[in-house]
Amino acid sequence: MSMEPNPFSLCGRTILVTGGSSGIGRAVAIGAARMGARIAVLGRTPDRVQETLSLLEGTGHVGHVSDLTKIDGIEGDVQAILDRSGPFGGLVYSAGASDVTLLRDIDMEKAERQMRLNWLSFMALSQAICRRGRYAPGLSVVALASISALTGQVGLSAYAGTKGALIASVRSLASEYAPRGIRFNCISPCPVDTPMQRETRSRLGEEWYRKEVLEKARLGPLAPEDVADPVLFLLSDASRRITGTNMIVDGGWSLS
Ligand SMILES: NC(=O)c1ccc[n+]([C@@H]2O[C@H](COP(=O)([O-])OP(=O)(O)OC[C@H]3O[C@@H](n4cnc5c(N)ncnc54)[C@H](OP(=O)(O)O)[C@@H]3O)[C@@H](O)[C@H]2O)c1
Repeated sequence: MSMEPNPFSLCGRTILVTGGSSGIGRAVAIGAARMGARIAVLGRTPDRVQETLSLLEGTGHVGHVSDLTKIDGIEGDVQAILDRSGPFGGLVYSAGASDVTLLRDIDMEKAERQMRLNWLSFMALSQAICRRGRYAPGLSVVALASISALTGQVGLSAYAGTKGALIASVRSLASEYAPRGIRFNCISPCPVDTPMQRETRSRLGEEWYRKEVLEKARLGPLAPEDVADPVLFLLSDASRRITGTNMIVDGGWSLS
């Protein structure tokens, strides 16, 4: 029998999951804990952070409640989590907001908040974690972008812009941090069955859901776990030579 270590294992790693209180982030937290990681669940709503913690296998997991749009607080958030969990071996940035609005109706203050949460807070969090002594060797950063950054859909100009910024920054960061062995990648999903999508579905109706989700996702509509599993791969050593990519996870949604 081979005694080679399993490259897909996350044993011994501390992984910070923002958006860990819901949807894709929660599925990542559950999956990463099952693969042996110690999870720091970051969310905005205390009850939902606690609920995720109650679903995790293993021990040593911690919860942290914070509003990531408060950029000035991010340094303190990272230090507080570090004190309890030790240096980070993974960061999953799944916190995000989406708003389907035509250009003529965009509230610019709301769009600015969306840009802050979906892009600027990711930059601030990455800055705080990529400091000496705060990360473990082989740190892998995975950011949730979106297929909307690549395809062009009505009503998503502001949201798509935030995700395009994320994809562009991740490529640059991958190049900047490769000499330290830190990897940065994005995952771009099509619509996934989470509270975020359910909100869009209730606003745009069942016809939208049939046409934009059921008909286009050729391999079937996506559940949070369908996105979480590729995130786990990008966190693990199995992807040790992959950096700067944007992996599309869309069940064939963007095929013509
Ligand atoms: N679902 C989709 O169809 C889809 C498709 C493509 C890309 N994505 C992207 O995937 C990521 C996860 O989406 P999801 O569908 O899982 O969304 P979700 O279920 O709505 O979860 C969003 C998460 O972000 C957290 N959050 C929101 N505002 C925050 C703030 N100001 N500070 C800290 N945390 C905040 C929420 O915390 P609370 O629960 O505590 O409020 C929640 O954990 C997002 O970046 C989204 O843009 C989603």
